[in-house]
Amino acid sequence: MSDSFAGAKTKTGTLILVKSVFTPVGMLAEPFCKRHPGFWKMLTVATCMALLGCLQAQELQGHVSIILLGATGDLAKKYLWQGLFQLYLDEAGKGHSFTFHGAALTDPKQGQQLMAKALETLSCSQDIAPRQCAELKDQFLQLSQYRQLKTTTDYSALSKDIEAQVQHKGLREAGRIFYFSVPPFAYADIARNINSSCRPGPGAWLRVVLEKPFGRDHNSAQQLATELGSIFQEEEMYRVDHYLGKQAVAQILPFRDQNRQALDRLWNRHHVERVEIVMKETVDAEGRTSFYEEYGVIRDVLQNHLTEILTLVAMELPHNISNAETVLQHKLRVFQALRDLQRGSAVVGQYQAYSEQVRRELQKPESFQSLTPTFAGVLVYIDNLRWEGVPFILMSGKALDERAGYVRILFKNQAHCAQSEARWVAGRSQCLPRQVVFHVGHGALGSPAVLVSRNLFSPSLPAQGWQELEGQPGLRLFGCPLSDYYAYSPVREQDAYAILISHIFHRRKDSFITTENLLASWVFWTPLLDSLAFEAPRIYPGGAENGHLLDFEFSGGQLSFSQQQPEQLVPGPGSAPMPSDFQVLRAQYRESPLISAWPEELISKLASDIEASAVRAVRRSGEFHLALSGGSSPVALFQQLAHWHYSFPWAHTHLWLVDERCVPLSDPESNFQGLQAHLLQRIRVPHYNVHPMPVQLRRRLCAEEDQGAQLYAAEISALVTNSSFDLVLLGMGTDGHTASLFPQSPTGLDGEQLVVMTQSPSRPHHRMSLSLPLINRARRVAVLVMGKMKREITLLVSRVGHEPQKWPISGVLPSSGQLVWYMDYEAFLG
Ligand code: BG6
Repeated sequence: MSDSFAGAKTKTGTLILVKSVFTPVGMLAEPFCKRHPGFWKMLTVATCMALLGCLQAQELQGHVSIILLGATGDLAKKYLWQGLFQLYLDEAGKGHSFTFHGAALTDPKQGQQLMAKALETLSCSQDIAPRQCAELKDQFLQLSQYRQLKTTTDYSALSKDIEAQVQHKGLREAGRIFYFSVPPFAYADIARNINSSCRPGPGAWLRVVLEKPFGRDHNSAQQLATELGSIFQEEEMYRVDHYLGKQAVAQILPFRDQNRQALDRLWNRHHVERVEIVMKETVDAEGRTSFYEEYGVIRDVLQNHLTEILTLVAMELPHNISNAETVLQHKLRVFQALRDLQRGSAVVGQYQAYSEQVRRELQKPESFQSLTPTFAGVLVYIDNLRWEGVPFILMSGKALDERAGYVRILFKNQAHCAQSEARWVAGRSQCLPRQVVFHVGHGALGSPAVLVSRNLFSPSLPAQGWQELEGQPGLRLFGCPLSDYYAYSPVREQDAYAILISHIFHRRKDSFITTENLLASWVFWTPLLDSLAFEAPRIYPGGAENGHLLDFEFSGGQLSFSQQQPEQLVPGPGSAPMPSDFQVLRAQYRESPLISAWPEELISKLASDIEASAVRAVRRSGEFHLALSGGSSPVALFQQLAHWHYSFPWAHTHLWLVDERCVPLSDPESNFQGLQAHLLQRIRVPHYNVHPMPVQLRRRLCAEEDQGAQLYAAEISALVTNSSFDLVLLGMGTDGHTASLFPQSPTGLDGEQLVVMTQSPSRPHHRMSLSLPLINRARRVAVLVMGKMKREITLLVSRVGHEPQKWPISGVLPSSGQLVWYMDYEAFLG
C-alpha cells in the first residue's frame, strides 16, 4: 500500500491527501516521508501536517466498502459509477478509506471487461485539471474490482475478503454500502445473501440502496416491503427516487423555508390558482419495453417522482426542514388529505410506435396491441384547509415534443391594469402572470433553476451553492421573458445520483423514500391504475406532430382531452377483440346518442356530463334542476358525484325525485334514503334545494286525500321554469318500465298530470312518479342501463316504436330536449 502512495506522480498537496486515504492506519506521515525522500521534499510543512491529521481522522473513521450490484448495467454505466467516483473525489481526503466492488452475475473475466468499459467514461468536474483528473481516475480504478456475486458462498467470500483487507491494512471497518441496481425480482435473494453472509461485524454499519420499481401496486409493494423489512431495519434501507437528488427539487423546501415570511401569506388556496408538476421526455421506450410494458408512465414517473414533488410543494412546512422524521410526518399528512382518484381524474395516451416496439422486443404476435400508457395527465386535489379546491396537475410522457421538467405554482391574479402593456416596466406590472417555478432541468433553460415572478416578491437566495442566473437575451419561460423573474441556478450543476450517493454516505435519510411513504403513495395510485387497466389509451404520433392531440382540460373533478378523437377500436392482446378493448363507444340507440363503456367508465362519463350540464345551467339561469331515479344502478353515480363536493355547483342545484315508493323516507327501500346515504350527506347542498316526494303526509303513506302528487306537481311548477328539468336521470326495468311508470299503467303515460300515483307489479306496490309528459319537457334526459339482466329488454326496445303502453321507456322522447342512453357493455353487448 505504501507503494501506491509512493507511486503518486503529482506535486500537489491535494492529491497526496486524497492518496492518503488508503495509507495504512498507524503509519505516521513522518517516518513514511523519511522513507520516501523524493516525496518528503515535495511536501510543504502544512501539507504534511494535514496528512498527519488526515491519518488520525482515518483511524477514527475507518474503511468503507461499496458494493455495486448490477455494476455493468445501464444505470451503473450512465450514472452510478460516476456518482461513486464523485464520492471518492469529495470524501477520500476526509478520513475514510474506500474500496469499490462492482458485482454482477456475469463470470469474472467477462464481468471485468464490461466493468472496465463502464468505467472508461468517468470524468472530473471542471475545476480539476485533466492530468490530475487522469491520476485520480487511475487511483479510483485501482480501488475498484469486479466480482461475481451469485451464490451465498460468493457473498461469504466477499465478506471474508473485506475483513482480510481491512485487517491487513490495519484499518477499522466503518461500514458497507450495497447498491442494488438490479431488477426487483432479484431483491429478495440478494437481501437474504447479504443478511446471512455479508453483514459487517459489530460496530460497523450496513446500508442497502434500492432502486425502483418498488412494486407495481399497493399489494406487491407491501409484499416487497414486508420481505425486505424482515431482513433489513428501516434505517438500513435507502430507497432511491433520483428526483429527490435533482437540485431544483431539493431546493423546494429550503426555498419555502428561506422565504417563509413572503410565502406564509401566498402558499395557499386563496392565492394559488393551480400547480403543474411536469416531466416531458422526447425519448420513447424502445429498448426498455420489457420493463415499460409492465409499468407504464404512471408507475414509472407519476407514482414516484411527481408525487414526491407534490408532497414537497404541498406539505405544511416543518419548523426544522432538516429533521427527516418531521419532514416524513408532514409528507404523510399530505397523502392522507389527497382526494381519491377516479377514472375521470386521468387522461392517458400511447405513442403510435409503442405496440410495434413491444411486439418486436417481446416477441408478441402480430395482433398484439398494448394498453400500457406512455403519456398521462392526472388531476389531483388535496382536501385540506390549505389546498382545498386547488388543482394539482401531474403530467408526464414519452415521445413528446420536448424534454423538460418543472414544478410551476401559478398564483391567482385579480389585478386589472389600466395602462397599456407597452408601458409596463419590465417584470413589475401586477397584470403579468405571477408564478414560482422550480425548473428541474432541460427545456429552453437547459439547467436547474428557481424562478420567481418579479411582481410576486423578491426571494432570498440560498446562502450557498446558488447564484443569480445570467440573462439569456430573448429567452421566454412560461409566458414571460427571463427578465420578468428573479432567477437563480446552482453554481455547480451536479448529477442527482452523485448527490444521492453522497447523502447515503452521510446518512442523510431525508432524500429517500421510507416504507410508510412508499405505501402511502401506492394506496393513492392503485385504484386509478386498476381502473385504467383495460383502458385503451389515446394513440399519438410522437414528437412535434402530437400537435394539440394531448392537450387536456379540467372541469370540476374531471380531466378530458380538449380535442375529440374519432372512436377507435383497439384490438386487445388476444386475437378476438374484447369489450375492454373499446374506448367509450359512441353510437345511436333508438335514434338518440348512445354511450357505452365498462361500468366504472360509463359512470364517470355520465357524472361528468351531469356536471357539465350543471355548470351550463347555472351559468345560464343561476340554477340547476336535477331529477334523479332510485334503485341500484345510480348508486355508483351518486358516489361519484359525492366526490365532487368542491367543483360541482351544489349550492345552485335543486334535487328532485323521479319516483318514490310509498314507504317512510327513512325506510331503506325509499329512493330518497338511497340518495341521502350515497350523495346528500356527503355534499354541501342547501337543505331547501332538496325536494323529496311527499309520500308521507300527516303520518300517512300516499293517502289519496293528502294529494301528495298534486303537491309535488305544484312545487315543480313553482320552482322549475316551464316545469322543464335541466336533467332527468332515468333507468329501464327488465319489463320496459321507467321511473315508476309500468306497462299498461292507467296514469302517467300521457295526459296533463305532471306527477302521478302508480302501481308497481313488485313490492312496495304503491308509487309516486313523474309522468312521461313531464319527463319529456326536460332539457336533457339520461337513461342509465346496466348489467347483463338488461340485455334482452335493451335488444327488444331497440326494435320497437313508440309504444309506451307496452314499454313505457319507449315513450321517453323529449319534445325539445335531448335524450342520451348510457349503457354498460353487458347491457348493450351482452
Ligand atoms: C426514470 C424513469 O425514473 O426517470 C425513466 O424510469 C425516465 O423512464 C427517467 O426516462 C427520467 O429521468 P431524468 O433524470 O432523465 O429526468
